Amino acid sequence: MEFFKNKCAVVTGAAIGIGQATAILLAQHGAKVIVSDINKDAGNKTVKLIENAGGTAKFIACNVAKKEEVKELMVQSIAAFGPIKFAINNAGIGGKLAPTHEIKFEDWDKMIAINLSGVFYCMREEISAMLHHGGGNIVNVASLAGLGPVPRGNSYCAAKHGVVGLTRTAAVEYAKLAIRVNAVCPGWTETAILDNLPEEMLGNSLKNYVPMGRLGKPAEVAETIVWLLGDKSSFVTGHCLAVDGGLKSS
Ligand SMILES: NC(=O)c1ccc[n+]([C@@H]2O[C@H](COP(=O)([O-])OP(=O)(O)OC[C@H]3O[C@@H](n4cnc5c(N)ncnc54)[C@H](O)[C@@H]3O)[C@@H](O)[C@H]2O)c1
Repeated sequence: MEFFKNKCAVVTGAAIGIGQATAILLAQHGAKVIVSDINKDAGNKTVKLIENAGGTAKFIACNVAKKEEVKELMVQSIAAFGPIKFAINNAGIGGKLAPTHEIKFEDWDKMIAINLSGVFYCMREEISAMLHHGGGNIVNVASLAGLGPVPRGNSYCAAKHGVVGLTRTAAVEYAKLAIRVNAVCPGWTETAILDNLPEEMLGNSLKNYVPMGRLGKPAEVAETIVWLLGDKSSFVTGHCLAVDGGLKSS
């Protein structure tokens, strides 16, 4: 796709899972991709995968919960591949399941630091840079948990609702300034994040909740992200798009 050719895209949490699939797809469309993550080994493997397929990528380590590291990520990304035209704020954790009154304070703080503040830190730097460089396009990876309740998952749910709020508000703030901001809200998707779910929720029982009768694949979420980043969705902003096999509607 000509639209992405030689433009800089930054993907957080891109070592594995949905972020990795998105980084690979963006590189296939010709973008120069910054693969960012806390996992250096897996991040470098993703870069190698992209390079071996003829694409351009570079790994930059960054813990999104640390605002100074996020600032440095954006500075280094621009130095490597030019103005950031596409930003995918994907890094996140699943956290521990517990009813609200039993959530440990340290678990709450960690969840909010990574899944909510991390997205805010990234957006703040990305938007500043995009305002200086003629605009750009942001997609946040929220969750179905950003659109409805998650019993025993309130910290995750609150963080993802926060990401939906950040997305919708920034979309309106910058709508006349050539910056679009959207989110995807994946349902159950086959990645390592599901490994922490209790035994009884895994296997067939998880699939049974989904009208399509299966889990999503990271590549299916990546396709939706790339559509939202691309010129085919040029009049779409502030949208939080479920990618869930019909789960939200059921
Ligand atoms: N898989 C699902 O079912 C599902 C559903 C809804 C939303 N999501 C969201 O999708 C996003 C990607 O998750 P995934 O399913 O690919 O999980 P994953 O565990 O496969 O990948 C998450 C990536 O984020 C990285 N990461 C974690 N903490 C980080 C930090 N502090 N700084 C930088 N990187 C960090 C990890 O190292 C990993 O590479 C997350 O935001 C998650 O909440 C996933």
